Amino acid sequence: MPDINLIKVEKYFDKNYVIRKLDLQIEDREFLVLLGPSGCGKTTTLRAIAGLEEIDSGDILIDGTSIQHLRASDRNIAFVFQLYALYPHLNVFDNLAFPLKATKKDKQTIDKRINEIANILKIESILKKKPSELSSGDMQRVAVGRALVRRPKAILMDEPIGSLDAKLREEMRTELKRLHIEINATTLYVTHDQVEAMSMADKIAIMEAGILQQVGTPTEVYDHPVNLFVAQFIGSPIMNILDCKIGTDESHTLVFIGREEFGLPFSKSLFSSIQEKVGSTEKLTLGIRPEAVRIEKENKEGYLKAVVHVIEPLGPYDIVDIKAGDQIIRSISAARFVEKPGETVWVQFDERRTHFFDKSSGKSLNI
Ligand SMILES: Nc1ncnc2c1ncn2[C@@H]1O[C@H](COP(=O)(O)OP(=O)(O)OP(=O)(O)O)[C@@H](O)[C@H]1O
Ligand SMILES: [Mg+2]
Repeated sequence: MPDINLIKVEKYFDKNYVIRKLDLQIEDREFLVLLGPSGCGKTTTLRAIAGLEEIDSGDILIDGTSIQHLRASDRNIAFVFQLYALYPHLNVFDNLAFPLKATKKDKQTIDKRINEIANILKIESILKKKPSELSSGDMQRVAVGRALVRRPKAILMDEPIGSLDAKLREEMRTELKRLHIEINATTLYVTHDQVEAMSMADKIAIMEAGILQQVGTPTEVYDHPVNLFVAQFIGSPIMNILDCKIGTDESHTLVFIGREEFGLPFSKSLFSSIQEKVGSTEKLTLGIRPEAVRIEKENKEGYLKAVVHVIEPLGPYDIVDIKAGDQIIRSISAARFVEKPGETVWVQFDERRTHFFDKSSGKSLNI
């Protein structure tokens, strides 16, 4: 039985829907990341689960029981916001103690719980400090601690590290993940940052304009995006999306990108698989991740001629934009393999990692 179960949840503000028929299951102890661009309905979804926002239709179950009639304070769910909202006049210990005192826990329990959580979050040394004396990372640790100290059934986090600088975000990502492994509370984590989602999630739910697009493990959504939106939202540098047509010769399917006259040779059976699914050989979009673009310096059979356009040396590897006819294709190549813009190279796509989409619907053909 899922821990948190959203069934056909809908939310409108005036006549506009913000969440549309949302079905989402979060299993016991799972770390699920709700990912999507700004305004897609992430915060509204969290607030609905927490009881801070009423839904217009559908149901929300926790442990199999509808919680609609319960007030926020009776739902046993903790909420961590992007802004830490610590009580400025209380020191860290008292901030942590606040939710426990509110539920009338005795002093011994309070001390024990705070020591436990301070130990896990490594904030023992700052328990006497006021929020104004803390770094932003520590403030966030305290905010998370305050949510966990009640031992809630589930924890909801809304972009909890969004306002930290890039380096600290990276550290906090690892910390929060470790914390989840130690505490093992069912977690729903909201972010618009796909790197955060990929690195932390057991499962990612991708939402756009109030509509759930796909739910899967990071690997599933990366390797098998169901549509162009997911394909481009997940992964950095983003997937190349190219207009494409297909044809055949005796032994291959030929894949033509843009207005190219040269067809990249793919396996013969591809042609009929695509035709079966879209009934067209032209209304296609091809998706290829930069790491699946192969570049060679010498002309190899079946490779398309291209010219190096821009090189971004990132250290461990280079991102190289190459120009084939009217198309720019991003690729990842070994550091310093390509030397300079203007250089001629030959390119081919790794067929197993090439995605085909129906151009009109944007849906993956799952080939
Ligand atoms: N109280 C409200 N009244 C009217 N519209 C609202 C209200 N709250 C949110 N909205 C609208 O609902 C949509 C979804 O908002 P929500 O805050 O859930 O998005 P989000 O995915 O959390 O975005 P962000 O990444 O910017 O935080 C937005 O278009 C927003 O303008
Ligand atoms: Mg939000």
